[in-house]
Amino acid sequence: MTQTVTVKIKRYNPDTDKKPYWKDYTIELTEDKTVLDALEEIKANQDGSLTFRRSCRHAICGSCAMMVNRRNTLVCTTPLKAVVNDGGLFAAKNTVTIEPLPYLPIIKDLVVDRSAFWEQYQAVKPWLMPPDVVPEKEYRMSQEEVEAMEQAETCIMCGACYSSCPVVAGNKNYLGPHAMLKTFLRVMDPRDQVPEERLDMIANANGAFRCHQVVNCIDACPKGLNPAKAIATLGKMSLRSGRIKGERAERMKKLIADAEAASSTN
Ligand code: FES
Repeated sequence: MTQTVTVKIKRYNPDTDKKPYWKDYTIELTEDKTVLDALEEIKANQDGSLTFRRSCRHAICGSCAMMVNRRNTLVCTTPLKAVVNDGGLFAAKNTVTIEPLPYLPIIKDLVVDRSAFWEQYQAVKPWLMPPDVVPEKEYRMSQEEVEAMEQAETCIMCGACYSSCPVVAGNKNYLGPHAMLKTFLRVMDPRDQVPEERLDMIANANGAFRCHQVVNCIDACPKGLNPAKAIATLGKMSLRSGRIKGERAERMKKLIADAEAASSTN
């Protein structure tokens, strides 16, 4: 027997609506349908004005993050069947709610303005800054560095952690979990020459010390990452003297000494 689902979508067009409102659509539930498939079907067959973002459909681009049953979710990889009746806002039988990410201005329907998100990302200079003089052989990494980088590299910048964070909700100057996770990635990267500068960048009232460890970011991350732990680690590192330690510290010292020796002979 065919099962139908009520999809309750928060709609808002700032040109015509005073405030967001809920609109219901009914679609058929099938085994293989994702939440994104449901949105595509509604747009194609019922309401062409419905607006949402998506691109890769494979949990890579991060553009389809939105709230499904009040949880930050990547809709392209979430089966519709998995979220029907899972205790959403309305908790009604055969119902799913879909809303835009919270705490960010709505451009239209499910599309939010991520400017603040990208500005904070840019603020931590997330790109690699390698030394002028590189080692003759390959860079060597400790197991701890490898594991830390694997974690942070997996982040697809979908904004789910950012928009789940209560600190972001109250303070748009807060760097946010995404930016500090990328800072962590660079601090742990043996090829980067400015880890101390990066620690200074996040060691302030809008950085690691503003995090309240509410840990919503862990729950929200569709990749299972732990930005809260990365932020706590950065906070601890930034409080220590001799913050960059061990083999890495020795490599850094050697690179600096080599650079100084090279510049004094030129
Ligand atoms: S469409 Fe790219 S992550 Fe969902």
